[in-house]
Amino acid sequence: MIYLDNAATSFPKPPRVYQRMDEFFRHRAVNPGRAGYRLSAEGEREIEGARKTLASLFGARESERIVFTLNATDAINMAIKGLLKEGDHAITSNLEHNAVTRPLCGLEKRGIISLTRVDASREGFLDPDDVKKAITSQTRLIAITHASNVLGTIQPIRDIGKLAREKGLIFMVDAAQSAGAWPVNVEDDFIDLLAFTGHKELFGPPGTGGLHVGERAQISPWREGGTGVNSESPIHPTALPFALEGGTSNFLGIVGLKTGVEFILETGVDNIKRHGQRLLTKVLNGIDGLGDRIVVYGPGASEGAKNRLPIVSINIKGFEPLVAGSILDESYGIATRSGLHCAPFAHKCIGSFPKGTIRISPGYFNTEDDVAQLIYALKEIASSVRVTAK
Ligand code: ALA
Repeated sequence: MIYLDNAATSFPKPPRVYQRMDEFFRHRAVNPGRAGYRLSAEGEREIEGARKTLASLFGARESERIVFTLNATDAINMAIKGLLKEGDHAITSNLEHNAVTRPLCGLEKRGIISLTRVDASREGFLDPDDVKKAITSQTRLIAITHASNVLGTIQPIRDIGKLAREKGLIFMVDAAQSAGAWPVNVEDDFIDLLAFTGHKELFGPPGTGGLHVGERAQISPWREGGTGVNSESPIHPTALPFALEGGTSNFLGIVGLKTGVEFILETGVDNIKRHGQRLLTKVLNGIDGLGDRIVVYGPGASEGAKNRLPIVSINIKGFEPLVAGSILDESYGIATRSGLHCAPFAHKCIGSFPKGTIRISPGYFNTEDDVAQLIYALKEIASSVRVTAK
């Protein structure tokens, strides 16, 4: 199989992730930090090490501000519902994944907050001036994706973050798609809340993710319970990270996540980004050579790979995206993802709602030859359509 669905989850992971998780699970997977024996203390050190590794990737000064969650959706729910109060106004965009859209719309529907959705250009980029125009005296939160999971377009988060800081607002970035594949720095980008998932470009297993909680953001507790610290108190600890964690964590997953992030730090985010841009350029140029039977959404070959992850949405004229995706899988062994990608407003923005697109997302372990085989398959499928003159 040629796997081109890395935007959904990276696959495969670096071999060391599997090796480390197997070794840890077989020989060390006791409950971390809950008891005085050495193996338990070692487990706790692994978790603290994972916080430090992630803090290093995100330029965070205090690793205790990294809170582990189940995934980015969990982190975003924790941030939005723990932050916003009755009467607040929030600003978001039409590029968001439902992980951001649904918690915000849910609060809006219940009459708790008001919400403004800023539109991106048809190419999939937000203009910070549009965000600025949406700010009201009630605005408390700006919640924006770093990279569209439909188009891969990178948003001007530093400009938006600076704006939020100047206006005294909280800035949340959904880095589910970008963390590990594109530089993101909580200090330089003025990010108060950074949500990330482990299973995409951080090369961790599913069921891992986190939230970096900056000093300006006060988040109410989300889950209260056992933490292994201050056990004498009936009230949940207020200091991070435990203020926002409770219960036995997914420590096996966190060990895998740490190993994935170590791989990224050794490889270099810039090198990973460059590889992605090489593959993206090859995808865009290859599709460009196939003529007008292929519709490309977002920036095309002429705009190049600038400010973009290797995520390309297309359609083949004459084929429903789900049908074309099945043909790619069944006849060519190529895995892509068709449909709305949990981002309906993004598809409205690019004109592919309600059926969506075929999304092609090569990852770090794909080669140029994989892309060449994709282009060959698309060419065959596109030329198999009989176009009837009207
Ligand atoms: N959010 C993931 C995607 O975009 C699953 O496909």
